[in-house]
Amino acid sequence: MSTFKAPKGTYDLLPPDSAAYLAVREAIAAPLRNSGYGYIETPGFENVELFARGVGESTDIVTKEMYAFETKGGDRLALRPEGTASVLRAALEANLHKAGNLPVKLWYSGSYYRYERPQKGRYRHFSQVGAEAIGAEDPAIDAELIILADQSYRSLGLKDFRILLNSLGDSECRPVYRAALQDFLRGLDLDEDTRRRIDINPLRVLDDKRPQVQEQLTGVPLLRDYLCDACKAYHEQVRELITAAGVRYEDDPKLVRGLDYYTRTTFEFVHDGLGSQSAVGGGGRYDGLSEMIGGPALPSVGWALGVDRTVLALEAEGVRLDLPSTTSVFAVPLGDEARRVLFAKITELRRKGIAADFAFGGRGLKGAMKSANRSGARYTLVAGERDLADGVAQLKDMESGEQRPVALDTVVAELTRLLG
Ligand code: HAM
Repeated sequence: MSTFKAPKGTYDLLPPDSAAYLAVREAIAAPLRNSGYGYIETPGFENVELFARGVGESTDIVTKEMYAFETKGGDRLALRPEGTASVLRAALEANLHKAGNLPVKLWYSGSYYRYERPQKGRYRHFSQVGAEAIGAEDPAIDAELIILADQSYRSLGLKDFRILLNSLGDSECRPVYRAALQDFLRGLDLDEDTRRRIDINPLRVLDDKRPQVQEQLTGVPLLRDYLCDACKAYHEQVRELITAAGVRYEDDPKLVRGLDYYTRTTFEFVHDGLGSQSAVGGGGRYDGLSEMIGGPALPSVGWALGVDRTVLALEAEGVRLDLPSTTSVFAVPLGDEARRVLFAKITELRRKGIAADFAFGGRGLKGAMKSANRSGARYTLVAGERDLADGVAQLKDMESGEQRPVALDTVVAELTRLLG
């Protein structure tokens, strides 16, 4: 062990477990790639103001959890706590929305940073795969994204997740609701901190997990009853489209999200095997965000799914991903001449696209065969001096244990055929 450890709230992804993370990222990305989303990558840090304005000055993410710092050059930056503000910033900067092809559909995958109190499922460095559809107001896009997330989880074999759906209204109806909510909350017996919230961010009080708060919230006004006609009609269409697609969801009139940019459709994917950190993904519409960061009006919608928590959800359900072994052929040379010959065969196999590995370090047969076993290879190729003199290598089928000599000049063709 070295003097150093991974920083608090972080962990390393190591083989073989890391393979599940790659598979989860791939499973989330595949339906997006297949649905017209193009890949985007943005820097790991941005001007701190982007998040302050975009995510919201009064959110926990901005006030408590942001890794903000000043560079030697005097720039105020922050490690990205989420992806939406960055992706929209990049799309606007590159004028993607002016190419006349709206919505601009983008997907991304990467690391995000929040200075949170670490616990199982909640880390200071975590990984998301996300999707954003920028510049169109169409319930079918909201539905598309929800359906694709459902498809991703299902393709991984997950079953115990639920989709919670709500509408947060728009700039017309939300202020009216906000005022009504504030009136109601002011009549309750709440602590100092929560009372302050009533002024700054009253919707967040709905999300308070403490029983003494939840008890008082019976009879709280719900946004559902304050939606304007346009928001109501929009929400109804989203619900119809996902129902028609056979995707099950639950209406959750108290669902609010930890980011301020949401309007209308909001949703969360929760997994029931994860305890308190049950949100495996979330998203919604953010029709006003572009203007908040200095862009034109560009109604948009998106989501991000947490890779770490999706892996935990797989563990909780006991789902074992069917991950093919990374190595198909493992070569074990006995002696210098065999090393030269087999190394050339391995190189040839790899160039043909066959996953192959080699016993490096000139170890004895026993140790090398252990490595061959551990590699998960289907076939092992062993050769010593006598084999070379006969012009063969021993081909061992690791499943049946059978071994037979194969002529050296046909061994690559033979393995290609066997692994077809
Ligand atoms: P979010 O709900 O803050 O939304 O994060 C999305 C997902 O990231 C969460 O559901 C969770 O799985 C994962 N996540 C968040 N924080 C942590 C953490 N500390 N440790 C482990 N996993 C975590 C967003 O980030 C929005 N940008 C989603 C979005 C995209 N909305 C519109 N477009």
